[in-house]
Amino acid sequence: MLSPTTLPLRALLLLLLLLLLCLWPQLTTTASTNSTSKRGLIYIYTSHSSKDDSIFTRSGSPLTWYYNYSPWPTDSLSDDVVEFVPMVHGATNAHEDVATIKTLSNATHVLSFNEPDISSSDGGSNTSPSDAAKAYLDFVAPLREEPYNLKISWPSTSGSASGLTWLSNFNKTCHGLNSTHGCPYDFLATHFYGPFSGLASWLGNLHSLYPDAKVWLTEFAVPDTSATVALAMMDQSLRYLDGLDYLERYSWFGSFRSSDANEWTGDGVSMLDGHGKLTGLGAQYLGGEENGFEKGQTGQGSKNGGVAMRDRRSFSMTMLAVVTNVVLGGRAFF
Ligand SMILES: *[C@@H]1O[C@H](CO)[C@@H](O)[C@H](O)[C@H]1NC(C)=O
Ligand SMILES: *[C@@H]1O[C@H](CO)[C@@H](O)[C@H](O)[C@H]1NC(C)=O
Ligand SMILES: *[C@@H]1O[C@H](CO)[C@@H](O)[C@H](O)[C@H]1NC(C)=O
Ligand SMILES: *[C@@H]1O[C@H](CO)[C@@H](O)[C@H](O)[C@H]1NC(C)=O
Repeated sequence: MLSPTTLPLRALLLLLLLLLLCLWPQLTTTASTNSTSKRGLIYIYTSHSSKDDSIFTRSGSPLTWYYNYSPWPTDSLSDDVVEFVPMVHGATNAHEDVATIKTLSNATHVLSFNEPDISSSDGGSNTSPSDAAKAYLDFVAPLREEPYNLKISWPSTSGSASGLTWLSNFNKTCHGLNSTHGCPYDFLATHFYGPFSGLASWLGNLHSLYPDAKVWLTEFAVPDTSATVALAMMDQSLRYLDGLDYLERYSWFGSFRSSDANEWTGDGVSMLDGHGKLTGLGAQYLGGEENGFEKGQTGQGSKNGGVAMRDRRSFSMTMLAVVTNVVLGGRAFF
């Protein structure tokens, strides 16, 4: 039985709870979205990627950009959720790739040649510094000019002594071709594989050689190790990279299933397990529980947070029914 004194109090309580529940979806989505995040996705095409990829762009994901080693956006990732960054993969097809990039209305940044210091069988574009410098000045550099006004990177070498030597020879050729400007760039892109201490010293090296350059770390991981060691290295790196001023963006390698990992990196670096579910490392890269991600989740069937939002609404409705029952002494009104 409801007494006259408790009824207004209960009604007030109910109103407050209703208000909170109505705001619930907004509170939880805005709190976990971070548009200033440096974190990005390396999109690797596999036989599973288009089935698995929606987890990466789900509501709450801190990923703000992606690239896929090509000038063409990935169909299944929508451009208004994560920014696509096109790449001119190698000097040989630079002319064609640049023509494609000129047609992209939303691009702001362009990555140039991928690992020119590495053979093509290992994913590199295997180009001499002088061929690269010529193609860069002929095709890539003009993207900085009107009407494109794109920000362009220097070629991304491997994080190694041979990578540094390649860059230094590239720079020399560039200045030989244009003594006043060399090969103009807006940022440097680089890769690193190894332990955290090696990553920090590699970036430090690059920064001391090019102190005015913003840097993107477009591939990094610790290869051929356990998932536990890879996760610890990633965790330490993320905290470091988030706080490093000259480091503008970064992307972990990689976003694939453990069964699709290559032999060289090993499967410890994988964000997804053999069934396309988030590994502990994958969940952590997406911001962990704080952002609504945990080990074992899949993105299958949900696009851009659709399911996540529906989940939250039905949770709110259930909570509403429970609360109503409690406050109104067992009487449900819907
Ligand atoms: C947003 O991302 C930046 C860069 O990754 C990070 O430093 C910052 O702490 C993040 N903010 C929140 C609220 O998560
Ligand atoms: C460009 O971005 C706008 C707004 O974010 C989006 O609606 C549109 O689909 C994008 N265009 C292309 C070609 O991706
Ligand atoms: C690039 O080349 C120019 C011209 O030779 C030189 O002044 C500059 O120090 C070089 N930069 C690096 C990082 O080697
Ligand atoms: C050198 O580069 C600058 C800036 O891109 C350009 O304006 C100039 O014409 C170039 N000079 C030569 C000799 O190519």
